Amino acid sequence: MLIKNVKIENADREADVRIKNGTICEIGENLKALEGEEIIEGQGGLMLPPFVDCHIHLDTCLSLDATGANTSGTLFEGIRVWSEYRKNLDKDEVQERALRTLHLYQEKGVQYVRSHVDISNDLTAFEALLELKEKVADEIELQLVAFPQDGVLTSEKVQKNLETAVSMGADVVGGIPHFELTREHGERSIQLIIELAQKYDRLVDIHCDEIDDDYSRFLEVLAAKAYETGMGKKVSASHTTAMHSYNNAYCSKLFRVLKMSGVNIIANPLVNVNLQGRFDTYPKRRGITRIKELLENGINVSMGHDDMYDPFYPLGNGDMTEVLAMGLHLCHMMGYRELNDSYRIITYNGANTLNLEPERYGIAVGRPANFNIFKGGSFFEVLRSRQGIRHSVRNGRVINSKE
Ligand code: FE2
Repeated sequence: MLIKNVKIENADREADVRIKNGTICEIGENLKALEGEEIIEGQGGLMLPPFVDCHIHLDTCLSLDATGANTSGTLFEGIRVWSEYRKNLDKDEVQERALRTLHLYQEKGVQYVRSHVDISNDLTAFEALLELKEKVADEIELQLVAFPQDGVLTSEKVQKNLETAVSMGADVVGGIPHFELTREHGERSIQLIIELAQKYDRLVDIHCDEIDDDYSRFLEVLAAKAYETGMGKKVSASHTTAMHSYNNAYCSKLFRVLKMSGVNIIANPLVNVNLQGRFDTYPKRRGITRIKELLENGINVSMGHDDMYDPFYPLGNGDMTEVLAMGLHLCHMMGYRELNDSYRIITYNGANTLNLEPERYGIAVGRPANFNIFKGGSFFEVLRSRQGIRHSVRNGRVINSKE
């Protein structure tokens, strides 16, 4: 296959890309088509590596009709509504909703997804998604987080379920320290999760400080553990919205330990601008972590939808440019250069968060032929026009085409 006339990652000049046996084998200008070679005309459009969604809950997605609404709009009512529904989860029903969600992603050029799966009550949803992960592997790479939504120290059952899910094949150990009974329980939960991840050689991704409480400071505990254990980049902190409320002096100290540790931060702007600030009158907090300052300090920040059409968020369609655009607006990242470069947040930074091996991701000779081609010639244009992708290619195969 030969892709003609694409602008690779905002390049000024157009290039051609040749693919053989699912791998990028040549990149250059004016490459001649070989006999019988399939040609895709890029028409000067942007080529980017696939989008990465680092944080979704596939077990809850598209469940809103069945669960009923979250009338207060708070995270805590969302958890309450979900906890009722999950008592009678059905494996096939979870798989069917998750598959429909993955199709939404596929349409929008997302090929890598990290999904948290609530294991607090039982392992029905986890088993459903573990099966699904294998079924969809050719088209979308799924990482599963064993997620103790109720708090891992809430009961022995949750603790047992967490370890069982990890031993069954969860890629990542999850947690929620700010939802544990006390600060002390929260700290103990982080210790337990890190130990579990080390025992099974897994990654860590914690729902961390997702609250408008400036005293919620588990991120420093997590980063210190990541630093002391050497787990570093294998550890991610999701949400970290309390950072919005921290004072600047504390943030400066916090950024030091974040940099030392190498932990990744995952922001979920769509969902958090909806859930946070709900206890405020006016002014209302924006409910987002400090993406701009984190990036300026060299800390890896990626993004996720978190939820789609469920008790935590009523909208969402799998489009990572929508997630990104909300974050860019909320964090005052609207300069031309910031907008144009921001594709890295939902591509390379996401791949870093997922700990993908560098040789498995990106547009370069020798790497798998996984990419999207857009109508606009720059990412600025893609964000401005929202025309979406023209072609999505995975392992050298067109898996989605709008023409
Ligand atoms: Fe989440």
